[in-house]
Amino acid sequence: MQQMFDVEAVREQFPALSRLHDGRPVAYFDGPGGSQVARTSIDAMTRYMERGGANLHGVFPTSTETEEILAETRAACAAFLGAEPDEVAFGANMTTLTLAISRALSDSWDEDSEIVVTELDHRANVDPWLIAARERGAKVRWIGVDPETLTLNLNDLDQKINPSTKLVAVGLASNAVGTVNDVAAVAERAHAAGAVVAVDAVHAAPHVPMDRESIGADVLTCSAYKFFGPHVGVTAIRRGLFEELPVHRLDPAPDHIPDKLETGTQNHEGIAGVKGAIEFIASLGEGASLSERLLDAMRTVEEHEARLADRLRAALREIPGVTLYAAPDGLRKTPTVAFRLEGYAPLEVCQHAADHGFFIAAGDFYASTLAHKLGLDGSGGFVRAGLAPYNTEEEVEGFIRVLRGLVR
Ligand SMILES: Cc1ncc(COP(=O)(O)O)c(C=O)c1O
Repeated sequence: MQQMFDVEAVREQFPALSRLHDGRPVAYFDGPGGSQVARTSIDAMTRYMERGGANLHGVFPTSTETEEILAETRAACAAFLGAEPDEVAFGANMTTLTLAISRALSDSWDEDSEIVVTELDHRANVDPWLIAARERGAKVRWIGVDPETLTLNLNDLDQKINPSTKLVAVGLASNAVGTVNDVAAVAERAHAAGAVVAVDAVHAAPHVPMDRESIGADVLTCSAYKFFGPHVGVTAIRRGLFEELPVHRLDPAPDHIPDKLETGTQNHEGIAGVKGAIEFIASLGEGASLSERLLDAMRTVEEHEARLADRLRAALREIPGVTLYAAPDGLRKTPTVAFRLEGYAPLEVCQHAADHGFFIAAGDFYASTLAHKLGLDGSGGFVRAGLAPYNTEEEVEGFIRVLRGLVR
């Protein structure tokens, strides 16, 4: 059963939405760079610190409570990603986790090994693998992006992936232009060749219902600051792979999953906040279990966001001088809308928008291979307006008016 999407009720959950800029309400369209934080997440972090925190393995309440919070958050993340709690590990952010995982996973690679990365991905799901390949002498193959459709070119997958392929790294959705990739098709081919599939779900996590099994991810990594929580990275690694993974760890540190990947003391208050963020998402859906509520919620969120994003893309197409960078209609996209406006540097568009209370960003957003391929590197990259569940139709209409004002 799907709930109607009540955007006003959602907005009440975000204290930052009451912020004014030069006396105007702020419209946060910079979710792809980092969403605002839900009250449940803020409260969970505050509660943890106010009640007394501690390190793990103590016999006193603040320590045992800390362990409980970590366990509960692992369970919540497992439900969010479609994994098991002990397959979930925390870290500073997606990039740091991926660097650690790539270092461990590449331990068995040699000059006969190959890896596959994509031209569409954020470099956080490219460079760690390139560095590991370079260290091991492994060959790198690239899945190309079609500059017209902004989709991955999957026609020649059979030439890219072969029995020497050890790893295929692919993003679930592009943080620059919003394309949702057919990761399942890539994973199927990769698994047939015996390769590990590492999926970057950082951009997709706040927009797309996720289920590790249907995606076919062996490593699925995201960051809570994109889905209404604090700056904490989360990864789910398939049990067999994780157990065998020769992670770089200190000798006295635990050598079992998932703790063995969690170097040093974790961000306990942040991890408390991750659970709060997932509880916020779950509150938007219905179902008997947390997983069901999360999937239902994400379907509802995707519907709301798609409606707003479709309107924004359609309006942008009508504004003279706008070049829109989006996959064709009918192809699944997140509500992340990239464009350029003739006669203005991307940052100038952002400044004009900010002056009117619309917070949007410009750049290549580390999707630098894509920006290069589109000839946008060196000229400021894209302007990016990314929508979130707390954004409204009125905000989108206001933003369109502000852009039209710039053209006049
Ligand atoms: C698609 C994508 N992947 C990876 C990252 C890097 O994530 P983190 O900041 O958690 O390292 C980002 C950050 O913007 C992203 O959008």
